[in-house]
Amino acid sequence: MTLLDWKIDMAEIKNVTKAIIPVAGLGTRMLPASKAIPKELLPILDKPIIQYVVEEAINAGISQIIFITNDSKEAIEKHFEKNFFLESSLKKTKKKKLLESVKGIIPENIKITSIKQKKPLGLGNAIYRASDFISNEPFAVLLPDEFLLNNKPLSDLKNMINNFNLSKEGQVLVEKISSKFSKNYGVVDLLKSRKHNQKFKKITNFKEKPKSLKSKEAYRIIGRYVLPSETMSFLKKARPSKDGEIQLTDSLLSMINSEVNLNATLSSSKVYDCGSFKGLIGANIALASKDPKMKRYMKEILN
Ligand code: G1P
Repeated sequence: MTLLDWKIDMAEIKNVTKAIIPVAGLGTRMLPASKAIPKELLPILDKPIIQYVVEEAINAGISQIIFITNDSKEAIEKHFEKNFFLESSLKKTKKKKLLESVKGIIPENIKITSIKQKKPLGLGNAIYRASDFISNEPFAVLLPDEFLLNNKPLSDLKNMINNFNLSKEGQVLVEKISSKFSKNYGVVDLLKSRKHNQKFKKITNFKEKPKSLKSKEAYRIIGRYVLPSETMSFLKKARPSKDGEIQLTDSLLSMINSEVNLNATLSSSKVYDCGSFKGLIGANIALASKDPKMKRYMKEILN
């Protein structure tokens, strides 16, 4: 490849404007609360979990959201659609603040599309369902069970997109954990480097939910990814693992083994697993404690 070809090649890599958000999971960990209501609509204070995740994507520069959904999740689509009846009744009763809160859920220029995942065939399959909407361009994936709280001016997702733009290589969000928790997550090995202040590190291995590891600590994957367009062709070839599901992690491993570099961006957020009651309560307490009135109220209860 000549320098000119390389420059043309790089110039052809498009911006990250689309995000895939899989919401087809059954939410069994949240039963019975999630029997009739999608778990993604359970609230953190006054907004459903999914709204925070969509806002996180939009704030990072995403303009098209693709939900991978199923027949029992229509309420998620409804949450982002206009509700004429509710709006006109709030207008009539002059409930201005409430009207604003339901009117402007997402800016008008943001496009939301939904695609059904007919069978629960795993995360890799869910993402591949969006392949017709991803035309030779990078894309983000956000798993809405994970609620990320960050005081930094740039969110982790924005950092990942910046790192993608710098490197033109995929980015996976990670955090350090004790290896005893590795059985719950995808984990990565990173290229050892002496360089300080690296914005991201090259991933040398992926393992999905390993039962044990030699090292005491591990880097686990948090549900945020910025992936190159080639990911879809790897997912197309992917076969189910032992549990019958197509794992995204397996395709990411095939990518690095085929010399498609992927990197890890280290998270600076506090992560709450809102697919569990403990995490959902944690996220509510963490957000409520940012509001002085709520904080006082919580102290009152605990005393
Ligand atoms: C999925 C991924 C896993 C990742 C996790 C993050 O697992 O397969 O690699 O660490 O999301 O939330 P799940 O939690 O869907 O089983």
